[in-house]
Amino acid sequence: MTAVGDIGGRLDRRAVISVVRRLRSPEGQTDPLPLWKELRDMGDVVPAPWGGHFVTGFEVCNQVLRGRDWLVPDIAWQERQPAPERWHAPATREMSHTLSRLNAPEHTSQRRALGNLFDRGTLEAMTPDVEGHVRRLCDALEERLRTAGEADLVSTVSERLPVETVGHWLAIPAERYAHILDFTHRQVFAQELLPTKSDLKVSAAATMEMRTFFTDLIRERRAHPGDDVVSEWIRHWDARFPDDRAAADRALYHLVMFITIASLETTATLLSNMVWLLLRDRAQWDWLRAHPEHVDDAIDEALRYDPPIHLNSRVAAKDTVLAGVPVAKDTMVHVLYGAANHDPRRNEDPHTFDVRRRGAHLTFGGGAHYCLGAGLARLEARTLLSHLLKRFPDLALASGPEYAPRMVFRRVTSLRVTS
Ligand code: HEM
Repeated sequence: MTAVGDIGGRLDRRAVISVVRRLRSPEGQTDPLPLWKELRDMGDVVPAPWGGHFVTGFEVCNQVLRGRDWLVPDIAWQERQPAPERWHAPATREMSHTLSRLNAPEHTSQRRALGNLFDRGTLEAMTPDVEGHVRRLCDALEERLRTAGEADLVSTVSERLPVETVGHWLAIPAERYAHILDFTHRQVFAQELLPTKSDLKVSAAATMEMRTFFTDLIRERRAHPGDDVVSEWIRHWDARFPDDRAAADRALYHLVMFITIASLETTATLLSNMVWLLLRDRAQWDWLRAHPEHVDDAIDEALRYDPPIHLNSRVAAKDTVLAGVPVAKDTMVHVLYGAANHDPRRNEDPHTFDVRRRGAHLTFGGGAHYCLGAGLARLEARTLLSHLLKRFPDLALASGPEYAPRMVFRRVTSLRVTS
């Protein structure tokens, strides 16, 4: 197994830079598959041009996500870096206090407190609500198709369903959903791989709006508690910090804020992707209509084929060796979910979208940080796809998807359909 992109024994840094540049380009957003292959062909562990490594193969990515030798880059790690101010941008700092940037023991204690948020019973209880949202959104889609001849699936359905589902679950009034979507789309730019100064500026402004929004929400909920999940968390965190209301409020803010924003673009991208991939290969849409018992397989294949999050980072907890490459303590590695999911050693003929595949994927991550909302995302996707197949048998693409200019957090901004 090769370890690094190596030409004639010399590391070809330019080849890696070229792939990264193309991954950031509009062509790379539209079709990253050949670029993931190019990187994977350089090795399972490929040096990143700015230091650290990309991890491209399925097994090695899995090892990093689940292994004890790897941590998420928390505040302590950030402060040990030669240029810690790189992590001080407000939007980046805000994320550093969320579950995704905490290590044990704080991470373990917060995950334990939350438990399995979307266990079978909770998902069953949420199903009628999700069905209701899907029915209304499909009514809106039908109306749009009838009056205008075509519709944008993203704005009509894919971006609506996650915010309606999570907003309703958290008991947030519907008139605030547009604002939540707006700051979520802007905030995420700071979490891109190499954010520009202007990205950080946009994200900083969105972060301030987000902070005000969720701080107000928690204050309002304290004043008018109910039987909703936010009120339940307030009771839990107040009991955990009986003498420190400010600490409870900080923990609550980061929790409610992160669960909300983590649930929106990710799920919306899955919903758009699954429709796009099925309609692009009409035979699979038609086959699925005849075999609706395979809807879950189709969803997992869409998750495998084009993961809504393309990249995630970990740092080495100690000096270690990864796929033959020595990695010093504190070195950052970037797990490339898409490259891993398309590793032919794990999924044969990986670039073929096949709803019958039952392949393996790392799209929800792995180990201690495995996605908390995977069950909910699957419920939304299953409910929507089942309704679309029944209600819109002749749904067709009017044009291909358009994407936001991002490399890490994928966002489909438009997908026009007809019927
Ligand atoms: C298709 C939709 C989704 C995708 C692809 C996705 C993907 C991911 C990924 C890759 C991670 C990081 C895992 C790791 O570091 O190993 C993650 C973490 C997380 N996700 Fe999701 N997610 C989705 C939907 C959701 C939803 C609906 C929610 C909440 C309602 C949610 C909440 C979270 C939270 C709280 C974490 C942090 C877990 C931790 O660090 O302990 N996600 N997700």
